[in-house]
Amino acid sequence: MTTPGVAALASLVGDGALVACVDGQQRPYLSCDAAASTAAFPSVLAAVEEFLPWYSSVHRGAGYKSQRSTDAYEGARDAVLRFAHRQGSDDVAIICRNTTEAINHLAYRLRLSADDVVVTTVVEHHANMLPWSRAARCRYVDCGPDGTFGTDDVVAALEATPAPRLLAITGASNITGWLPPVDELVGLAHDRGVPVMVDAAQLAPHRPLPAGPDFIAWSGHKMYSPFGGGALIGPRRVFEEGDPFLVGGGAVDLVELDQVLWAEPPDREEAGSPNVVGAVALAAAIDQLEALGWPAVTVHDEKLAGALRRGLAAIPGVHLLGPDLGTETLPVATFTVDGLPHSLVAARLSFEDAIGVRHGCFCAHPYLVRLLGLAPGEVAEHRARARRGDRSQMPGAVRASLGVNASAADVERLCAAVTRLAALVPAPITYVQEPGTGDFSPGPASSPWPATTRRPGSSCSPG
Ligand SMILES: Cc1ncc(COP(=O)(O)O)c(C=O)c1O
Repeated sequence: MTTPGVAALASLVGDGALVACVDGQQRPYLSCDAAASTAAFPSVLAAVEEFLPWYSSVHRGAGYKSQRSTDAYEGARDAVLRFAHRQGSDDVAIICRNTTEAINHLAYRLRLSADDVVVTTVVEHHANMLPWSRAARCRYVDCGPDGTFGTDDVVAALEATPAPRLLAITGASNITGWLPPVDELVGLAHDRGVPVMVDAAQLAPHRPLPAGPDFIAWSGHKMYSPFGGGALIGPRRVFEEGDPFLVGGGAVDLVELDQVLWAEPPDREEAGSPNVVGAVALAAAIDQLEALGWPAVTVHDEKLAGALRRGLAAIPGVHLLGPDLGTETLPVATFTVDGLPHSLVAARLSFEDAIGVRHGCFCAHPYLVRLLGLAPGEVAEHRARARRGDRSQMPGAVRASLGVNASAADVERLCAAVTRLAALVPAPITYVQEPGTGDFSPGPASSPWPATTRRPGSSCSPG
């Protein structure tokens, strides 16, 4: 199988690093796990290295380095606003750790009550589900067996009573790569007076952010800046009233023992010393994505998505989850293999082929349960087993996800390896399963890696 015209668009730090395999060979590591975290752009690393000699406190020092750090931090905030098409608007960019923190932050700041309704969907990552179900009542838009829903389904949820306070929706699924029609949904929600928050964790490295949502959140570590920076953007007025999510230094203008005068946003929302290195890295990644250009990134990713999904779907014994092959998705493909547990597929790709994938439930359990077509009774059995600490039979799938550094040759390498496994070619060594995590690994005598690189549970987070 060849896919002409899909060359890597950019290289990343660590590309080509050699990894030991069970046959004693070293192979260049192939990351098919971009949807979890990406390596850094070289320009991000360079920006961090250039900045570090000038690193100091932000908004907390009169010295030259503090002033310079503050300037770098506020410059990064401007880049974040620009990335989300909010430059010159009255919106506030809050620099935070990641999407999870951003959505928890917003769920607190919207001052929801237990009776408020938030419309969200079963397609969401837990990060865009649990903060809402804790703060309010969720009205879920369900999906079909192909993992998609229609705009009518969302409209029905928006129009049901009581009227919702918010629509919280993903820009792209981390399991199927499906792209809900966000621009249209934002328009439909706004027509009904409902503000929208978009979880752009998956979207941000692959497509321009939508301009219409009231709130948007994303993570730097999924867009080539793994230094702990992320962003939450929203209208200033939301953050102008009430106490912030985190309280402490930096968020205040005046503290007396019996009262506090909060600072104006965004300072009010960023108590504690900020992650200036993460912000500098995030801004550099934004610059790099803009320099590559969205048309080039989009074309690369669309071609790659097609090759990846078609290639895997064509392998006998492999079942691709999600929408049909004609549907536009990100370069993300989640699949099962007849006769092989997902955890064993992932282990064998890793130890025999130096290919890194994610397996399990991908922090989106309700979605995966639907994609796998599990009955409530089956889910109950798995829940009971998990409560006993036995994850050996946890349902799940394998996810391959690619970024700007991937090419058609990478897809071919992955598909060749999956073809071998799906043909049930016996493993060259014995793999041992750890019941507590469900993960497989070579027994100590045949492992090619030092024991210190293999912590139980590092392969598949149960969440
Ligand atoms: C769609 C989606 N939303 C939210 C998150 C959470 O991102 P983070 O772990 O960076 O907070 C993820 C992470 O995989 C994701 O894929």
